[in-house]
Amino acid sequence: MDRQHQVIAVFGAYGHTAAFVLDELRQRGFMPLLVGRDAVKLHSTAQTHPGAQVRVASVADPTSLDGALSGAAAVINCAGPFADTVSPVVEAALRAGIPYLDVAAEQAVTLETFQQHDQQARDAGVVVAPSMAFYGGLGDLLAGAAMGDWPAADDITVAIALDSWHPTQGTRKTVQRNAGQHLVFTGNRLTPPTGPAQTDTWQFPPPLGDQEVVELSTADQVTISRHLRVPEIRVFINQTPLRDLSDPTTPPPTPADAGGRSAQTFVVEVVARRAGAQRRATASGRDIYAVTAPIVVEAAARVLDGRVSRAGVGAAGELFDASDFLRALDPAHLTFTAPDHGRTGGN
Ligand SMILES: NC(=O)c1ccc[n+]([C@@H]2O[C@H](COP(=O)([O-])OP(=O)(O)OC[C@H]3O[C@@H](n4cnc5c(N)ncnc54)[C@H](OP(=O)(O)O)[C@@H]3O)[C@@H](O)[C@H]2O)c1
Repeated sequence: MDRQHQVIAVFGAYGHTAAFVLDELRQRGFMPLLVGRDAVKLHSTAQTHPGAQVRVASVADPTSLDGALSGAAAVINCAGPFADTVSPVVEAALRAGIPYLDVAAEQAVTLETFQQHDQQARDAGVVVAPSMAFYGGLGDLLAGAAMGDWPAADDITVAIALDSWHPTQGTRKTVQRNAGQHLVFTGNRLTPPTGPAQTDTWQFPPPLGDQEVVELSTADQVTISRHLRVPEIRVFINQTPLRDLSDPTTPPPTPADAGGRSAQTFVVEVVARRAGAQRRATASGRDIYAVTAPIVVEAAARVLDGRVSRAGVGAAGELFDASDFLRALDPAHLTFTAPDHGRTGGN
């Protein structure tokens, strides 16, 4: 179907990340449908999206969600903390028979999405794609790209470096909500950590160079472990963004370019190791909130045009061809390299 006629509902449409998602949908020719619980904020956002419909809906009222999704080809859930919003919106998507995608970073929520909704979604023939975002999506895609044709690995490490982290209200609320729910993936299972978070030194590409990193529990441990055969998954992040995040005076992100992206930079490296050999894939770019939009919209586009492996709940690297997906985002949204395979990003 012509994209101009494909309506994609965005739940939580007036949030910071949703603003990038709405822009990305428009740029790709989709028509966004603005859904959320606050009519005033929805109508204010709609002023910058001529032609877009607005529908008020609440997760406490399934009928309102059914009405809001009526006529949509897919729904993207941007309303976090996701612990409150995922199940009601997934269930509404399944009732409507349309694909569901979200940008959840919370391990517990994404794990529950797999556990609670996979069979239902498979039975309904509907794709449910959680964590199509910087956390949970990008690391998983890079892990798939790094693995290439390896059927299994001994371990996978995701190393994230941010030069700063100016968190949104949504991030702050999500971090608070998520406290004490962290899991690590070791010995082939997700399990609460037994000691303090591991630390290490990671050699990032210049100009970052050597950085002290600390283990971070993100949706990546959940998404990667769903489909790659690997008994150990570690996710590390450098210290600077964690200091920013724990400081209540750190301001929210501010736009630094015409597209609204902040000046924040990121590098994500994923190394898979097997029997002494290692394979590495890297992505770098600007603004972890902004880059989430092309990830979730690329995922939605692929689901809608059939470039998806199956129905049911799936991780990004499981539902899509990971390297092809990342190359599609390079160079407009990030720079992707998988040098160990002799491939570089670009078209
Ligand atoms: N995985 C990743 O890499 C990644 C990337 C970006 C964002 N995120 C996540 O996305 C979420 C939103 O982040 P943000 O930066 O966009 O925050 P934000 O600007 O604060 O926006 C949050 C949005 O969610 C809505 N919302 C929250 N709880 C809701 C509920 N129970 N029912 C309906 N709407 C609700 C808010 O509406 P109200 O104003 O009405 O509360 C608002 O529209 C956070 O959980 C964040 O962690 C994850």
